[in-house]
Parts: sequence; structure tokens; C-alpha cells
Amino acid sequence: MNQQLIQDLQNTIQNIPDFPKPGIEFKDITPIFLNPKLYEEVITDLAKFSRGKVDAVCGIESRGYLFGIAIAVALDVPFILIRKKGKLPPPFVGQKYDLEYGSEEIEMRTGQLKPGQRILIHDDLLATGGTTEAAALLVQKQGGIVSQFSFLIGLKDLEGEKRLEKFNAEIHQLLM
Ligand code: PRP
Ligand code: MG
Repeated sequence: MNQQLIQDLQNTIQNIPDFPKPGIEFKDITPIFLNPKLYEEVITDLAKFSRGKVDAVCGIESRGYLFGIAIAVALDVPFILIRKKGKLPPPFVGQKYDLEYGSEEIEMRTGQLKPGQRILIHDDLLATGGTTEAAALLVQKQGGIVSQFSFLIGLKDLEGEKRLEKFNAEIHQLLM
């Protein structure tokens, strides 16, 4: 546990009350990108968790790209984009998931993930776990092994972690 890094992140990430809806506290991670040294330390931490353990990184649009690509480069493994519906040309595979109201869908190009590859699924934030669960199902649909999940932030009270238990994968949440 890197206490200094955790402290620096807590001092940098801004908690914005009542955004995007009343009662929700938004975590604004954008100040991290104003500090290249801090960003580099985040990547070092996240890459350390996965080094030697995965064959590719899948990042979830859009904030999952902000750290996901840099993690993949640090690990010297491929980065595969998981996009929101309607952005990717065919062929692709999709996975629906439920939101509080309605449903959403994410997609991945077919053929980029090779069957049997050990996959790290990365996103900036674990809240309800709905998005990450759908990403993991998408990886499995293509024969990938869901080996690890990593997040910059995990919201403890929303029990996203419980939702991911069934994948039997390692989970790293830098800030909890
Ligand atoms: C946010 C966040 C995670 C997801 C977490 O993304 O970046 O991807 O929600 O929520 P969950 O655990 O309840 O599924 P959002 O859909 O707001 O889009 P963005 O990354 O494009 O900003
Ligand atoms: Mg997101």
C-alpha cells in the first residue's frame, strides 16, 4: 500500500456534490492530469499490480482509457478498447447491461482479443459494478480469461466488488 500516493490522490481528486444528479457526489479526476509526476506514480502503481499476470488490457470508454493505455504500454501488452454502443465498425460483439433507468450496451471489435488470453479489465471507477461486469462478460464471450480488475477509485458503499466476485479475478482499487 502506497500511503503517500493515496494521500496525494485524496488531495488532488475533487469531490463535487450533487453532480450529475442531486445526492450523487462526483469524483473529478481531471486535476491528476495537471500533474505529470502524480500521473506517472498512478501508472507505476497500477502496472505493478498486473506485471507478468496479464496478456492484454481492456479499457472501458471513456475514462478507462485515461490510465488503461498507459498501463498496457508499461506492461508491454496490447490495449483493447471497449466502447459504448454505436462507435465501432463491424465486426464487433456487444453486451447489454442494466442501469438505474433503462439499459446500456458496450462493444468490442472481434478478433483483437485472442482466446485464452489473460485479461486485465481497467476502469477509473467502480461504483455499482454494472459497467465492469458487462465488460467481463464481453471478454468471456470472446474466450478471454478475466484475470484481473483494476480501478483508480472503488466506491465501497455501492458493493460493486460483490458483483465481480463470480469472475474469481484479482481486484485492485487504488483509492477506496
Ligand atoms: C463512469 C465511470 C465508470 C462507470 C462506473 O463512467 O467512469 O466507467 O461510470 O459505474 P458503475 O460501476 O455503476 O457501472 P460513465 O458511464 O459516466 O462514462 P465516462 O467514463 O465516459 O465518463
Ligand atoms: Mg466510465
